[in-house]
Amino acid sequence: MLNVKRIESGYGAMQVLWQPSIDVKQGTITSLLGPNGVGKSTLLHTIFGSIEPWGGEVYYDGENVTRVPTHKKVEMGIALVPEGKHLFPNMTVYENLSMGAYRKRALADKEESLELVYALFPRLKERTKQLAGSMSGGEQQMVTISRALMTRPKLIMLDEPSQGLAPKLVGEVFDTIQKMRDEIGLTILLIEQNSDASLEAADFVYVMHEGIIKAQGTPDQIKGSTEIREAYLGI
Ligand SMILES: Nc1ncnc2c1ncn2[C@@H]1O[C@H](COP(=O)(O)OP(=O)(O)OP(=O)(O)O)[C@@H](O)[C@H]1O
Ligand SMILES: [Mg+2]
Repeated sequence: MLNVKRIESGYGAMQVLWQPSIDVKQGTITSLLGPNGVGKSTLLHTIFGSIEPWGGEVYYDGENVTRVPTHKKVEMGIALVPEGKHLFPNMTVYENLSMGAYRKRALADKEESLELVYALFPRLKERTKQLAGSMSGGEQQMVTISRALMTRPKLIMLDEPSQGLAPKLVGEVFDTIQKMRDEIGLTILLIEQNSDASLEAADFVYVMHEGIIKAQGTPDQIKGSTEIREAYLGI
């Protein structure tokens, strides 16, 4: 569904991505692991178009979308949930979700999308009128992911959704991600620092280091390699 071929990008004169290539198959969770500062977030932003690619290609559903503007990619069914919390704390949960459905196509499906989101996160349905800023960390993460779901993506890219959460909430976030795959058939590209949980949830794994893909395989293959674990994952 998503094929990234030898992509390059960076900031100013500093090159960050040195031609990593990744493939994300439809209906799977593909996980991108690697230490801090190796270019994981840069890769997602370059795929999405919020950082301009210097070279290489991005294909989505077989179509070359390397230079398609971000808003068009959203309309084509790609969503990015960036690192950190990006919700509107002084708006209610419902208002935050509505912000995800402001474009014409998404607006037409808004009620249906809300049903889908509430089915996935029953807790949000109970809290529609609560100010988003007063939700717990895990709940805020659910709102952030849900807002992206309101654009009705086929491919969702999640940048460290469990960051800063207590272990119990990390489990909840990963359960949700698996539900998105299993119940809605979404395709998921997931960045995680939490290697253990990520290796449990993923169908396929890429390990990134210094802007290069250093290893790839099924979670069992990655777990089975002492070399990869020690060199890049610290587990
Ligand atoms: N806006 C920016 N301007 C300049 N340099 C940046 C910018 N954003 C990131 N960088 C640099 O690019 C490199 C890769 O950063 P990136 O955020 O992609 O790493 P990451 O793998 O996502 O790390 P982390 O796990 O800490 O989130 C780092 O050296 C970082 O300092
Ligand atoms: Mg990052």
